[in-house]
Amino acid sequence: VNIFLYGPPGVGKSTVGRILAGRLQREFVDLDDLIVQRTGRTIGAWFCDGEAAFRAVEATVCREVAGPGNRVVALGAGALLDPATRAEITRDNLVVCLRAELATLVSRLGDGGARPLVATADVPSALGALLVSRAALYDSFPEQIETAARTAGAVVSAIEARLRPRTLAIPRLRQNVVVGYGLLEQLQPMLVEHGVNGPVVLVTDSHVADALRPRLLAAWPTIVLTPGEGSKRMGEIERLASRFLASGLDRQGTVVALGGGVVGDIAGFAAATFMRGVAWVNVPTSLLAMVDASIGGKTGVDLPEGKNLLGAFHAPALVVADPLALGTLPRQEFAAGMAEVIKHALIGDPALFEALERNGRFGSIDDLTAAIDVKRRIVEADPFERGEREALNAGHTIGHALEVVSGYTMRHGEAIAIGLVAEARMAEDLGLAAPGLAARIEAVIRRFELPVSAGDVDPEALRRATTSDKKRANGAVRFVLPAAIGRVVRGVRAEPAMVYKSCASIVA
Ligand SMILES: NC(=O)c1ccc[n+]([C@@H]2O[C@H](COP(=O)([O-])OP(=O)(O)OC[C@H]3O[C@@H](n4cnc5c(N)ncnc54)[C@H](O)[C@@H]3O)[C@@H](O)[C@H]2O)c1
Ligand SMILES: [Zn+2]
Repeated sequence: VNIFLYGPPGVGKSTVGRILAGRLQREFVDLDDLIVQRTGRTIGAWFCDGEAAFRAVEATVCREVAGPGNRVVALGAGALLDPATRAEITRDNLVVCLRAELATLVSRLGDGGARPLVATADVPSALGALLVSRAALYDSFPEQIETAARTAGAVVSAIEARLRPRTLAIPRLRQNVVVGYGLLEQLQPMLVEHGVNGPVVLVTDSHVADALRPRLLAAWPTIVLTPGEGSKRMGEIERLASRFLASGLDRQGTVVALGGGVVGDIAGFAAATFMRGVAWVNVPTSLLAMVDASIGGKTGVDLPEGKNLLGAFHAPALVVADPLALGTLPRQEFAAGMAEVIKHALIGDPALFEALERNGRFGSIDDLTAAIDVKRRIVEADPFERGEREALNAGHTIGHALEVVSGYTMRHGEAIAIGLVAEARMAEDLGLAAPGLAARIEAVIRRFELPVSAGDVDPEALRRATTSDKKRANGAVRFVLPAAIGRVVRGVRAEPAMVYKSCASIVA
């Protein structure tokens, strides 16, 4: 995987890049140097023709070094201004954004040197204006490294720490979760390292196969499913089992699921039942699958009567989450996963919640690890859903009712986002949470492009739908309600009038 270093002028991209490449024993590319090499003209000369001419040649050279490889690339400070270039680079390369405040940058830049955009008499004001106009751009990359008061060597160490995979263990499910950049490309050796030595069959869907399979470099027999919830049917399990047999899978074999929650649930259930159970490895590629569906061992398919009605607890021995897989995920699918991330932060990680509020950004390796860890802790405490695990149902009672009332046309994550808001309001009404909690939750949900109201829905129909949630105990609807950021109360019974009020608050 290529590592692109980005950030404002003077932040130290080239210095840091050279040291990082040395430590990792990788090729180092300074994009400005390469432009000079390729075109035979200095950056200053290019700028004389105008910034647009320079950006065009810069984009071409940038694409050249973004192809498969293991380079460390120091970018020019404006190289990712163009959305098309940015999209192409972030799709399957790691971008690390180096940061420092104005005073530090000014002192590092000295007289402005070879950087045409700030080579004026007044470097501080030129650079200050540039930082303001590019703030949103620089803020948008999940991996951010503060460089002020750090030596270049220390910055490199901080980057190396982000590159190191993290392992989270769920001993009671005998499940290990590894999160790390570039793991997709190392899947085959990784499986061998984890003791997989029998036959392997890969199950994926066609979207994921198109987006990611070229990066897998795996030579396993592959079964490609039709994307979408519609594939989660029993017939698909039977079909998979036959394909497993034809591919030579036996009891010593391993099923590898590569995809979102749909692929994981189907492949996992097939693994649970094929020859009374074979091992499986889950490689989640959607945000929802990374932070939620791949953790905890539930597998299954739908029945015409409802979702997930047929299934088994069968945890994958290993979950491999590569944050770079998210680079090809459609925007709306990312947002849908964010609903579960916000839920996890709300029920078990106040620091993560505050980071979401503060930054409006998610996706670094630390972010993902934190979101996964909330679910890990809960399923480890209650692997078979007898108590604590119920906390994961926050936002889901009203969220599920919304799905039902919409005839499942609403995306799960969107329904949960709205459900979180409605249930937080109910918590305030019941005096379980202090006033203001619902507003905080609503603000975060809006920030991540998720809806907070449901449009034209009948609140009474919605209230009634909550009473048919499969998770009710003895007929009474039990809510999991937030008491504060990081703390929920389980098993709350609410009067119908109270439920109605909260349902009415989220319809337009
Ligand atoms: N087992 C559990 O504990 C559990 C928990 C939560 C949800 N689920 C299940 O998960 C399913 C939802 O999961 P989902 O949201 O991942 O849906 P999904 O698997 O349908 O994926 C969403 C879409 O994104 C595509 N996609 C996935 N990764 C991609 C990538 N890296 N690049 C490009 N496209 C990509 C898929 O092809 C699909 O079109 C539901 O069936 C739900 O019941 C299971
Ligand atoms: Zn959910």
